[in-house]
Amino acid sequence: MLIITFSPEETCEVGRVLGEACHGGEVILLEGDLGAGKTTFTQGLAVGLGIAEPVVSPTFIIMREYDGRIPLYHFDFYRLEGTGRAVDLEFEEYLLGGGVCVIEWPSCAPELVPDDYIHIAIEEKAGMQRNVTVEAVGGRHRAPLGRLRAALTPQDGRL
Ligand SMILES: Nc1ncnc2c1ncn2[C@@H]1O[C@H](COP(=O)(O)OP(=O)(O)OP(=O)(O)O)[C@@H](O)[C@H]1O
Ligand SMILES: [Mg+2]
Repeated sequence: MLIITFSPEETCEVGRVLGEACHGGEVILLEGDLGAGKTTFTQGLAVGLGIAEPVVSPTFIIMREYDGRIPLYHFDFYRLEGTGRAVDLEFEEYLLGGGVCVIEWPSCAPELVPDDYIHIAIEEKAGMQRNVTVEAVGGRHRAPLGRLRAALTPQDGRL
């Protein structure tokens, strides 16, 4: 599914709608260059998960946890490049924790990425345009994606 946004607020809103579509246990990979909008998307997602606390970039600390209707585990693998399997066990526990795991820069530690996830690629275009491509990889994430699609229909008027 391709969603085109024209401001940080719109990207945030797409994240919020996906957050509302999550029931817990989802894994969301966020790919895109520096400054593409991965953290912006996650800030909206947190609102959709019922998290009041503002989400800040987890860069330099690998993971931040937020409590809401559903907890958010916000990972940034940027700093993990080359460190291999050091955090492997701990990460697996988060995957089973019933919250939503969001991973920025998953390509920096591909061995930690599970088989089933929502893949989101944010591509910077001219001006403030971003092309946000969302797909379910594996079977477990088709339902939340279906709910996202239904919530973002054009007649909805929000985007
Ligand atoms: N349509 C848009 N969607 C999202 N962000 C946008 C958009 N247009 C402009 N921006 C700006 O782009 C920047 C995105 O920053 P953000 O921290 O979300 O990126 P990131 O992908 O998480 O980067 P990093 O890889 O450094 O963590 C913000 O300054 C935001 O205001
Ligand atoms: Mg970021």
